[in-house]
Amino acid sequence: MFSDGRLCFGGDYNPEQWPASVWAEDVALMRQAGVNLVTVGVFAWSRLEPAPGRYTFDWLDEVLDLLHAGGIRVALATPTASPPPWFSAAHPGALPVTADGVRLHHGSRDTYCAAAPAYRTAALAIAGALADRYAHHPALALWRVHNEYGTTCHCEHTARAFRRWLADRHGDLAALNDAWVTSFWSQHYSDWTQISTPRATQYLANPGQLLDFRRFWSDTLLAAYREQRDLLHAANPAIPVTTNYVLGDWVPVDHARWAGEVDLVAVDHYPSAVDIGAEEQTALVGDLARGWARHGSRHRGDATSAWLLMESAPHQIHTTGRAHTKEPGRMTRHSLAHVARGSQGAMFFQWRAPVGGAERFHSALVPHAGPDSRVFREATALGAALHRLAEVDGQVEAGVALVVDAASGWALRHPGMPSDRLDHQQETAAAHRALWHAGYGCDIVLPGDPLTGYRLLVLPALYLTDDDTAQWVGEYVTGGGHLLATYLSGVADEHARVRLGGYPGALRDLLGVRVEEFHPLAADDQVRLSDGGTGRIWAETLRPTGAQVITAYAGGVLDGQPAITRHRAGSGTAWYVSTRPDDATYRRLLDEAARSAGLTPVCPDAPAGVEAVRRRAAAHGGWLFLFNHTDTPQRVPARGTDLLTATAVDEAVQLPPGGVAVLREH
Ligand code: GLA
Repeated sequence: MFSDGRLCFGGDYNPEQWPASVWAEDVALMRQAGVNLVTVGVFAWSRLEPAPGRYTFDWLDEVLDLLHAGGIRVALATPTASPPPWFSAAHPGALPVTADGVRLHHGSRDTYCAAAPAYRTAALAIAGALADRYAHHPALALWRVHNEYGTTCHCEHTARAFRRWLADRHGDLAALNDAWVTSFWSQHYSDWTQISTPRATQYLANPGQLLDFRRFWSDTLLAAYREQRDLLHAANPAIPVTTNYVLGDWVPVDHARWAGEVDLVAVDHYPSAVDIGAEEQTALVGDLARGWARHGSRHRGDATSAWLLMESAPHQIHTTGRAHTKEPGRMTRHSLAHVARGSQGAMFFQWRAPVGGAERFHSALVPHAGPDSRVFREATALGAALHRLAEVDGQVEAGVALVVDAASGWALRHPGMPSDRLDHQQETAAAHRALWHAGYGCDIVLPGDPLTGYRLLVLPALYLTDDDTAQWVGEYVTGGGHLLATYLSGVADEHARVRLGGYPGALRDLLGVRVEEFHPLAADDQVRLSDGGTGRIWAETLRPTGAQVITAYAGGVLDGQPAITRHRAGSGTAWYVSTRPDDATYRRLLDEAARSAGLTPVCPDAPAGVEAVRRRAAAHGGWLFLFNHTDTPQRVPARGTDLLTATAVDEAVQLPPGGVAVLREH
């Protein structure tokens, strides 16, 4: 396994940016801070292969030996996210092309087309050379392939590969024409060569083409990962291989589908909010990563759902146009919130802040000020805290399953939808936020995942619902489960074709409602609800066909008409929410749905602003993580031993502002 028995602590280490004289100090400081894993070589291609086929490994030999002598293990990266200038000069046809047909130039990173044969060959060559030299190095704990797969391309290599992928998916042109509804706007294809990637076009693009392109490109990047992985596995099957997932609504990767192909799900997380939103996002990403890991382990057929926070920022939150300095204690809270949700440690971008380069002011464990700094002291304290938590194990307590589906997210963002504010990820985040504030543990699941043990299933705008998914949801509910589905769930099939007969299509009968018309709201608009709350983004004309009305619209054209309904289906219950409730209303609603499903919050007595996450392992008992996200002291009734302070807690934990406790419960 990649860990040394303790939780991992460390980050991206770029010795190639420093003279050799700094390396010994790096290792000494790493030891002082408790660092036990570093990623090396991520962007070192031009230093490792200064000319085609000429390798300079002497410096990397020295670095790995130094780290090994210092007891620090290495996640060795393949540097394929940043080809050297000689590669771009020799292979201009492997530079990426935008949807507008503009070929991008060298000068940043990630300037390659992942479908270009020359790029794939060069990437495999450098990965193979690294494998030959280091696959049995004693410092090697993990291979980290590439960095944050997420680029796209519209060149001719890509177009050819797209056609091959489409032929494989659809079989023949008749099936493709049917799936893409090419009878609309005279788009019927009579030859495969007529099909291109969805390049810039005159007006709205074909939704089926857009959706298939996203799926194809995720598969193409996955193929690029897999060929490196297979080579690294072959060199030494004992060393696990992964790649670090980048998150964001622009990312053309279906991370869930990749999860079975990595030995360890690894995610990079950089919250974009400065306020409590950063903690909400941290909780969501931790749950997402765990969900992918569980899904992946089922796919691989092993029993590990371990995952790793591979990168995070020690002391900054990057928002649009500004870097916000994290308040004291926040780095620790964010890191331990990931550990609470199953991360095997906390890794950072980056170890030491560089003197130049595009990211010279990005966050680092050793900042420009050097080790005599608040950041380094906090990092050292975090290292010690992480090593005190080595015993934590087991499953996160969660009675709610929240469904996430990348393809629904892609399809909802297509142009030509009735609103440009439809967003599966935002709907997922809103539902998760409501559950988080209400104190319920939540697992992220994918359509088709086993639902045993969950009392409540939440579908946040699950727009693409194929027949299998509809059946999966139906069996869960009629078998006694509780469901809460939000607007636009069930509306389209897997090709993004609208299901006829009234929305929400595939789920209409289960939910006991029929929707004839949408009422998308303007950006600054909201609708009042009869329970005193408000709705945003969306509203509908909804007719119950068996469901009971729980909340109605109040005022405006929808005055008195149903907004939220509940339906008894088989031995289960199905709620339908036809708008996006404001946060407080959503929280009350999910609390009610969870309670009526028989669930209780993880720590029912926790005061507002205190987050609680429980891990349980059959052999060891449980661990309760408590996070005080407020700026006042908080008292939380609980019993056990606080592993961070090694003190017994008989009645209650006293959490200082921003404080964390991890109790071994008895
Ligand atoms: C990502 C990348 C890193 C770096 C950081 C900056 O995590 O993997 O190389 O660019 O973002 O925040």
